[in-house]
Amino acid sequence: MAANPKSKTTFLCSDCGHTSPKWDGRCPGCGAWATYVEFNEPKSPARPRRGQREPTSAVSLADQPSGTAQRMPIGMPEMDRLMGGGIVPGSLMLIAGDPGVGKSTLLLQIASKVATSGQTVLYVSGEESGAQVRLRAERLGASADRVLFAAETDAEAVLGLMDRVQPGMVVVDSIQTLASSDTPSTAGSVAQVRDCAQLLMGWAKSAGVPIFLAGHVTKDGNVAGPRVLEHMVDVVMYLDGEALGSYRVLRCTKNRFGSTNDVALLEMGANGLTEVADPSAALIGERQEGVPGSAVVVTLEGTRALLSEVQALTNVSTFSPPRRTANGVDFNRMVMLAAVLTRRAGLSLGSQDIMVNVPGGLRLSEPAADLGVALSIASTFRDRPLDHTAVFLGEVGLNGEVRRVPQLERRLWEASRHGFRRAVVPKNNGLVQADTPDIEVVPVEGLSAAIAAAERSAALAGTA
Ligand code: TYD
Ligand code: MG
Repeated sequence: MAANPKSKTTFLCSDCGHTSPKWDGRCPGCGAWATYVEFNEPKSPARPRRGQREPTSAVSLADQPSGTAQRMPIGMPEMDRLMGGGIVPGSLMLIAGDPGVGKSTLLLQIASKVATSGQTVLYVSGEESGAQVRLRAERLGASADRVLFAAETDAEAVLGLMDRVQPGMVVVDSIQTLASSDTPSTAGSVAQVRDCAQLLMGWAKSAGVPIFLAGHVTKDGNVAGPRVLEHMVDVVMYLDGEALGSYRVLRCTKNRFGSTNDVALLEMGANGLTEVADPSAALIGERQEGVPGSAVVVTLEGTRALLSEVQALTNVSTFSPPRRTANGVDFNRMVMLAAVLTRRAGLSLGSQDIMVNVPGGLRLSEPAADLGVALSIASTFRDRPLDHTAVFLGEVGLNGEVRRVPQLERRLWEASRHGFRRAVVPKNNGLVQADTPDIEVVPVEGLSAAIAAAERSAALAGTA
């Protein structure tokens, strides 16, 4: 291949964006293996020498303009709370998630809300036609009067459009469909994503107009075409949930203008996403009392405690090896818990099909849910219901020990607020009854003790 004199070949890590003049098996930037891709970087014009540039001036922090004073509320209370009180002018925000999780739906709802408050919103889509987006807006019952739509994938054309329209807010769905003609690689590549985000960032900052980006997530959970994007934008929010379930968790993982320890629960219905004001009540609302295989756990999402139900079902297997299915909990974690139940609590699950399900489509990723998952499996296997007035908390180790969980009191407070009267918790947390007057604490050390305690507690509650 003839060398292109206008560009130089470098190698770019598709994970973290680190560049290097030579290929390397392992990225020195982030330590990932085999992530280098070849990339022709256009030669940048020579930088002016020192002395030729205008000197920058430094101004006292106290005299800097205060940006947060003029936040723009979206008009969706949970979203506004999550973002720290509304949208900051000139910010670049990323909503990332699996395909089909509801990013376009959420962005269109935000666009329509902001447009109703009197702003012109420019909605640029590289994925859908105007007719499709209009149809969705009609389904959502969203007002589309001040939402201007453009189907465009050329970054420079989008910049030109934004200059002409002078919108109050911009939505780009998605960043992976955008391509800049200055960057010689295909849309969705690391280089394109980085350069297009840079262009949009520059525009947002100089015009003082906020831009929302939709971003797809790869199988391993990264934003496709990469971490670089997360570093560049001001706010990163992940929309998460099982595509077939109705609940979605919106998690703020980066916020240059507010805290990140927060989540909002949204429900996908026929009219788009609605905010759920009391997530715990919604998540355990359809629970049946006194049936084997159901346990309630309390997980923490940021600073928020959420109650959820875990269901399990075991059945003599007609397959060899027996089947295991996990919805809403990590598959490997579930297999580990089944092994621990077999070896440390004497439950012979070896010939059983095991299914675990978290209704509502929420994903429990915290180890604190281990005990609830293990007890729900034990309960269905022994065909004895667990106490429906109790919650079960604890991480389970390979030796069958129940290990401590962080912020136990906050979780128990949420449980007692929803009428739970007992909690089976790790002894190692050292919680004494006086700490939680509203809820009876049953401390346990190991899995067998936890099963016994859960059954005793069920007898007390009259469940069994
Ligand atoms: P979408 O916003 O297109 O997802 P993404 O942009 O993240 O790929 O949402 C797609 C899913 O949402 C689709 O499976 C249909 C569902 N949906 C509803 O259930 N109700 C609705 O009102 C809308 C608009 C979509
Ligand atoms: Mg979409």
